[in-house]
Amino acid sequence: MSTLPIRTYGDPVLTAVTSEIDVVDGKIVALVHSMIETMNEAPGVGLAANQIGVQKRLFVYDKGDGPRAVVNPVIVETFGEWPYEEGCLSVPGLSWEIVRPNAVHLRGYDLDGNELDIEAVEFEGRIFQHEVDHLNGVLLIERLNDDQRREAKITLRERRLEISKNDHDGLHQLLGE
Ligand code: NI
Repeated sequence: MSTLPIRTYGDPVLTAVTSEIDVVDGKIVALVHSMIETMNEAPGVGLAANQIGVQKRLFVYDKGDGPRAVVNPVIVETFGEWPYEEGCLSVPGLSWEIVRPNAVHLRGYDLDGNELDIEAVEFEGRIFQHEVDHLNGVLLIERLNDDQRREAKITLRERRLEISKNDHDGLHQLLGE
């Protein structure tokens, strides 16, 4: 088992829709173990497969009582509204208060092929919505209000410029200029 690099904002793998898993074989189980290790190391409370570059409909989460995996998850119903400060391992260091439904009804499968049917509220409900969004190619940036999104885009653009400037400086040092 080993941790895997987490893809970040701007990586096209994060905005592509994932494909359903037909069979949970040893490879999927090994992938889940690596995802759990990656999530714990980060640390985070949820991780979708495409965040580590695998285009499969699968996420892992830990709401505080141990890690679990959900295969082919779908949210079938939502209720109410709940504002919550939300971040994402793929958009590191930033968070926003986002209003989403408070309660969700999630369906999917566990690793043994048992059907899951979970009613989740508040924190757990938020994890499910965030991770299912990932698997649909949607980042939390899409869930911001207009003002939040405008500021976020500026911050993210500035960060990228900063990163490419550092790369540029590094290159000059490398070349001895
Ligand atoms: Ni995320």
